[in-house]
Amino acid sequence: MNFFVKNCLLEQENTDCIILAIFSSCEFSESLHDLNKCSDNYISSLVKLGDIQGKIGETLLLYNIPNIISKRILLVGCGNKNKIHKSDFKKIIESSTKVLKKLAVKNVIYSFSELIIDVNNNIYWIIRVLLLSIENSFYNILKINSVKKNNLNINHITFNVLIKYDLHHAQVSLKHSLAISHGIQSAKNLSNLPPNICNPLYLSYEVKKLYKKYKKNITIEIIDMEQMKKLGMHAYLAVGNGARNKSFMSIIKYSRKDIITKKTIVLVGKGLTFDSGGISIKPSANMHYMKYDMCGAAAVYGILIMVAELELPLTIIGILSGCENMPGSQAFRPGDVLTTMSGKTVEILNTDAEGRLVLCDSLTYVERFAPDIVIDIATLTGACVTALGESISGLFSNNQDLEKQLYLASQQTNDQVWSLPLVSEYQKKLTSNIADFSNTGTSSAGAITAACFLSNFTKKYKWAHLDIAGTAWTSNKKSGATGRPVELLCQFLLNQLNNYDE
Ligand code: BES
Ligand code: MN
Ligand code: ZN
Repeated sequence: MNFFVKNCLLEQENTDCIILAIFSSCEFSESLHDLNKCSDNYISSLVKLGDIQGKIGETLLLYNIPNIISKRILLVGCGNKNKIHKSDFKKIIESSTKVLKKLAVKNVIYSFSELIIDVNNNIYWIIRVLLLSIENSFYNILKINSVKKNNLNINHITFNVLIKYDLHHAQVSLKHSLAISHGIQSAKNLSNLPPNICNPLYLSYEVKKLYKKYKKNITIEIIDMEQMKKLGMHAYLAVGNGARNKSFMSIIKYSRKDIITKKTIVLVGKGLTFDSGGISIKPSANMHYMKYDMCGAAAVYGILIMVAELELPLTIIGILSGCENMPGSQAFRPGDVLTTMSGKTVEILNTDAEGRLVLCDSLTYVERFAPDIVIDIATLTGACVTALGESISGLFSNNQDLEKQLYLASQQTNDQVWSLPLVSEYQKKLTSNIADFSNTGTSSAGAITAACFLSNFTKKYKWAHLDIAGTAWTSNKKSGATGRPVELLCQFLLNQLNNYDE
């Protein structure tokens, strides 16, 4: 799909379909009103038949409209004119996509620039929400060995910008939105792959491909198990011990050679390409979902694609901590004591609390980059799903300002997060009589104790942890990765640029 922004004379556009908003009680949007006048009130006469009221997601397809060159007009109900919530906007786009998918249309124009979408109501955000919602509604999981071809006809999507003066901002938005969308789609595609294909080595190949594509600003480094041994990453290594698929930590270093940047931001993604639980094996029902235990790594991959596409003037290091947690004669066991890269020791009480072990060594490893900010992204705890459900990711930080910045980006993008406290009291839950820590707490506050565990390894920099166990994928019929929190973190990075042109 190719996207364009344009200040159109709608009635004169030779296109397959123009998509327009109609609000509650049949109130017309500005562009619909104009087209209706051109059609000598033909559109309003059809609307009067009563087939559409303007409720969110309703649609009405019209043909043969007098004085209008477009072959079709699609009216979409948008509800309350004065405030459309971003989540309702997704429904609006989904229902229009449902209609478009059944038609033989190639070119379409969305005339939605006059909509009032809550939180950030300007052309930049309208285009952003529009483009990401459209891409999301057209997304299909890449089927393995499927003979069915992608029969999508639409290849040319134009956003009509009602006010000419807004065109520049619309273009900036289009550029950002396309890069973010590319990042989200890439993260989803990687996350949705089955675990027999997407293993830690596969993640490293994908990183190598990124290097080939974005050589100008990207260098990479792949740390294998030999190197991990030399580095003393024994917690990370132990988790991968039971698996035939070897562990690889893939590093993407992004920076602009022509610009000196002061800050280094590191993103660390949990990349368990499959988490069986290991010797503390998980119940078999729903275990297949644990192919998604690498969604944190996939998010890091997607974010770096966005950064590379936009050539942002920042220094960003992305880590994909690839590993597979399997039972077997070589597997680590409950009772083992491991020495982490930091020198601290951990007694294993449950091999299913493996994410924190892979992450603690990755978080120590990144000290070498002297980072200002480190953010880890992980499907870390079932307890976080219990606490915040499937819509909200857990946010933890050792720095209030960083926490605020992430919360702001979350509000801007509607990629929701909620702060949970990193209370030092709960460190007590992690005491061990043989090692510095144990790897699990008591049964309560599991998301917090996991974050507390990590906080012992992140003292040298500003750090935030996003627990995306509930938000990274949906387990309903249309099960698949959500691409979260790619947009949130892309926005966080865009906000780092001082003169970011919104
Ligand atoms: N990958 C899981 C967390 C998870 C569970 C994510 C369900 C999404 C849905 C993680 O490695 C895990 O198994 N955590 C354990 C920790 C426990 C043993 C302390 C959990 O949450 O049960
Ligand atoms: Mn686990
Ligand atoms: Zn896991």
